[in-house]
Amino acid sequence: MQLPKDFQRLRRLRRTAGVRSMVRETELNVQDFIYPLFAAHGKGVKEEIGSMPGVYHFSIDRLRREIQEVSEAGIRSVLLFGVPAEKDDLSSEAYAQEGIVQQAVRAVKEENPDLTVITDVCLCAYNPHGHCGIVREGQILNDPTLELLAKTAISHAQAGADIIAPSDMMDGRIAAIRAGLDQAGFLDIPIMSYSVKYASSFYGPFRDAAHSAPAFGDRKTYQMDPANAREALREAVADVEEGADFLMVKPAMAYMDIIRQLRDNFDLPIISYNVSGEYSMIKAAAQNGWVDEQRIVLELLTGLKRAGSDLIITYHAKEAAEWLRG
Ligand code: PBG
Repeated sequence: MQLPKDFQRLRRLRRTAGVRSMVRETELNVQDFIYPLFAAHGKGVKEEIGSMPGVYHFSIDRLRREIQEVSEAGIRSVLLFGVPAEKDDLSSEAYAQEGIVQQAVRAVKEENPDLTVITDVCLCAYNPHGHCGIVREGQILNDPTLELLAKTAISHAQAGADIIAPSDMMDGRIAAIRAGLDQAGFLDIPIMSYSVKYASSFYGPFRDAAHSAPAFGDRKTYQMDPANAREALREAVADVEEGADFLMVKPAMAYMDIIRQLRDNFDLPIISYNVSGEYSMIKAAAQNGWVDEQRIVLELLTGLKRAGSDLIITYHAKEAAEWLRG
């Protein structure tokens, strides 16, 4: 057979492990990971979330122990969520001095002051209707919600949070939270905005975990339509103008094009949130022996980084940290 004269021998750079490692463009590091943790009331509680094997509700005392393990694994930052004792229409525990997140922040900082503590700011877990804002007559009200979000952010900063991460998707929340933090003297506390957050089915297991499923309707009037990409850029532009310091894309796997577009259009750090449903699908398949969990997770996380993520929020962080070390 007559071979064509000049074709590329791309396999040359794949011939040995040594050469492959020389030309590898993307390398995962433990400092790329942000580890989400759920704090709950009580004592001695470490309760596994049914739909998220390996993810737990921790009471503050058990959270302290977990923080030691997380720190030993080399993880540098955690994202805290709270499971409140009581829910009310004003989401009071979201901004209570002794709220579950506020207590958790203080405890984590006591255990390891060097660990960067990010707090999720939202109301959905703190009220009986499970929506991310104030509800009146079945409507999720935008502007009245902003004040409560700012109050929540300030209370987190007062407890010692290093970074504030609003996930509610109300319009104007970054401006409101920035103004609130500044007025309270927290000029240097950055905002990690869940800028591009889609109304996604991939949050299902999280809503079990946070007891935050909406009691009526859905989140489609505030979270984005999965079909839209241009709107993602509008959300990001708005957040940058309002003072966001980080931009986030959530979920991650089905939205890698959006991660790439944000990376190409903005100079802010880009975070991707590898959400609960993405985690649970891999866990379930791995438990059935259908996929090699370690290899599939490291491939996924590498893909998210290659797509343009500077940091990845992932429930696999602790395991991935161990795999990278091994
Ligand atoms: C709260 C919030 C949610 C998640 C993070 N913050 C749930 C939602 O919007 O319904 C989802 C995280 C995950 O699925 O891992 N607004």
